[in-house]
Amino acid sequence: MDKNLSLDLRTGLPDHLRVLADKYPRDMWQGHPNFNQLTAFWLDRHLMFRKVLDKLIADTQAHLDAKAGPRYGAELSRYTGFFLQELHGHHGIEDAHYFPQFKPLDARVAGAFDLLDHDHHALDAHLHDLANDTNAVLRALQAGHKAQDEAGALLARHEAFQTFLDRHLTDEEEVIVPLVLEYGADMN
Ligand SMILES: [Fe+2]
Ligand SMILES: [Fe+2]
Repeated sequence: MDKNLSLDLRTGLPDHLRVLADKYPRDMWQGHPNFNQLTAFWLDRHLMFRKVLDKLIADTQAHLDAKAGPRYGAELSRYTGFFLQELHGHHGIEDAHYFPQFKPLDARVAGAFDLLDHDHHALDAHLHDLANDTNAVLRALQAGHKAQDEAGALLARHEAFQTFLDRHLTDEEEVIVPLVLEYGADMN
């Protein structure tokens, strides 16, 4: 795969993979007759991942500003665990079901699935780092420290991850949803 299309470097889907994305712009999705419940549910999952990460960022920022409540550590642990587990499961379903189901539908955009598959591997590595940086904060808190350095590093990690995650989710949506609309494909 072209290195410029890696998750860390690209700024959107390349033009040659936008044939259907350009035909079905985002504001057309909901009203289209082929838009269905399962697609809405899948988009909702993406929104949920974005919101949980927003919360983790806001909480860690509050901790750094000494404005976090006493439950910062417990909530950081709980929400990060949820985020890692749910995102891992979400990728697993896409790898095992959605990508193999959607890739053969249209040869013009089949290459997008290689890109999305690469993203999942890249995100896995970033999630590993995010887990490590979260554990460093939790360890420092448990030892009775304020964990300012650790929380600063975690915030930087969260913000980098937010960029990668948003790039992946946005591009993935612009590959999958237009295929649903064009071919009336199911997502089950
Ligand atoms: Fe994905
Ligand atoms: Fe996804």
